[in-house]
Amino acid sequence: MKRDLISFADLTREDVERLLKTAARLKADLEAGRAHRELAQRTLALIFHKPSLRTRLSFEVAMTQLGGASVFITDREVGIGQRESVADVARVLSGYVDGIMIRTFAHDLAVDLARHARVPVINGLTDWLHPCQILADLFTMRERGVDLDRAVVAYIGDGNNVANSWIEAARLYGLEVRIACPEGYEPDPRLVGRVSQAGPGRARVLRSAAEAARGADVLYTDVWASMGQEAEREKRLPIFRGYQVNASMLASAKKDALVMHCLPAHRGEEITEEVMEGPHSVVFPQAENRMHLQKAILFDLLAHQGSGTRARPPRGSKGASKRKGAPRGRITSRRGR
Ligand code: CP
Ligand code: NVA
Repeated sequence: MKRDLISFADLTREDVERLLKTAARLKADLEAGRAHRELAQRTLALIFHKPSLRTRLSFEVAMTQLGGASVFITDREVGIGQRESVADVARVLSGYVDGIMIRTFAHDLAVDLARHARVPVINGLTDWLHPCQILADLFTMRERGVDLDRAVVAYIGDGNNVANSWIEAARLYGLEVRIACPEGYEPDPRLVGRVSQAGPGRARVLRSAAEAARGADVLYTDVWASMGQEAEREKRLPIFRGYQVNASMLASAKKDALVMHCLPAHRGEEITEEVMEGPHSVVFPQAENRMHLQKAILFDLLAHQGSGTRARPPRGSKGASKRKGAPRGRITSRRGR
């Protein structure tokens, strides 16, 4: 059965642990010059309705480095829902490619695409969630010795898709996720409610950025106006002024706190130049890790099973995949929002 990655609800903790381990091995293999070909003859379609640097490039390079190929598609070519229904696009693509990554506005479009596609669908960001980002961020934190069951993540800024995915992560790990945001810019309260009921982590929404930052292991921020909200930027600037990750915020976090940003950054707005370039900042290794973690996702979803209705034996799997400890595994399919 094909598996999708639309939200953290598609993942068990065991799945995430496997992704983190696989990403670490694939990263080490790349650094050591050990080649992988497990996705030879596999193709990933990349549908983008919003701009991207990291997500597009990291998925494309990941496919290349695993021996596969990718096809970049914008709405100009496809016109999902206008030129052709979501269901028809999903069915046609399922005949050509082995997986689909979509970055779009409405989360329901990604859910619909996954429902109709016979191949795995990966959420590369919707207005509601950005799961691939937070999976890679968990990897970056683990790499730097942060205990994912004890860490305090202070997210300072807009309660957007990135904030929502942080809250979802607290359903798998004992993280304390503090979201400091202005009134009217809160994350989805349903997600906060689910964490409050079931844990294992905690999610709190605060008005005071300083309070959120106090004793935090990670100071995290994102743009004040996300893609699609550019027209609101001028209105938002004064509202968000007190939600900047700066030196005084950093001074109240733990002394070895990490500063993280999903990028792109607006220096002087949500983060100062000084902090972004300072010794606590891991923003560029964090961006690099998108590729390593996404390789693990592709490995999980595309490499070890025939995709869609076309069961295929894994090809080009000599070498790295045969070695002891080679990455393997599968994401458990659990539909839903
Ligand atoms: N962080 C992130 O998703 O970056 P892009 O928008 O450049 O893909
Ligand atoms: N919240 C931002 C994230 C960019 C990676 C946006 O949606 O534009």
